[in-house]
Amino acid sequence: MYGIVNKSLEELVTENFGEEKWEIIKQKSGINIDFFISSEPYNDDITFKLAVAVSEEMGIPLSDVLFTFGEWWILRTTKEKYGNLLKSGGNNLKEFLVNLPQFHSHIMMLYPKLTPPEFKVSHIEERSIYIHYVSKRDGLKEFVRGLLSGLGKLYESPVEMTDIPEAELHQNKAIFKVTW
Ligand code: HEM
Repeated sequence: MYGIVNKSLEELVTENFGEEKWEIIKQKSGINIDFFISSEPYNDDITFKLAVAVSEEMGIPLSDVLFTFGEWWILRTTKEKYGNLLKSGGNNLKEFLVNLPQFHSHIMMLYPKLTPPEFKVSHIEERSIYIHYVSKRDGLKEFVRGLLSGLGKLYESPVEMTDIPEAELHQNKAIFKVTW
C-alpha cells in the first residue's frame, strides 16, 4: 500500500502514545524502514506487520486496531490532507455512500498504482443502505467498519452497522447494512 497508509498508522500511534512506542512497534514488526514516503507504494506485508505489532504491543485485538485505524484514516488523515476531495464525495452521508463505488477512481489520479477496494451499494433507503465490499486483500473488514463509522462521525450522522451473513465466509468480502 502507498506510504501514506503506513504514515497514517504511525501518526495514530505517535499522537496517542508517543514516538518511543512507535519505535518499539517498528522493531517488533521487523520492519526496518526509517520513514515512509506518502507517494511511494510499499509491499502490503509491511502494513499488515505493523498493524499486528501495534496489536501485540498495546495488548489490543487486531480487529480493534483496524477499526480505530479506519476512523483515524477518515477523521484525521484524509480530512486534513484531502478535505476537499473527501467533501466532493457527497453533501451528506447518504450521498457519500451512494457515490462510494466511484470514489477511488478519483484517488487513482493522485495514486496511479493504487489497488483500490471495490464497493457496490444496494437496498438504498432514506436512512439505510447496504455496502458490499470486495478486496484483493484479506483481513481488512474491520478497517472498512472503522471507515464507515468515521464517515458517520464526519457527516454528524452516527451509524450502526449490521453484518449481512452472505459474505461472512470470505476473508476479503463483507456486506454491511449501514443505518443512520
Ligand atoms: C480522500 C480520501 C481517501 C484517500 C486519499 C484514499 C486513499 C487510499 C489509499 C492510498 C489506499 C491504499 C491502497 C493502495 O495503496 O493500493 C486506500 C485503501 C483503502 N481505502 Fe481509501 N482513500 C480515501 C477514502 C476512503 C473511503 C471514504 C473509504 C471507504 C469507506 C476507503 C476505503 C478504503 C479501503 C477499504 C482500503 C483498503 C484496500 C483494500 O480493501 O484492498 N477509502 N485508500
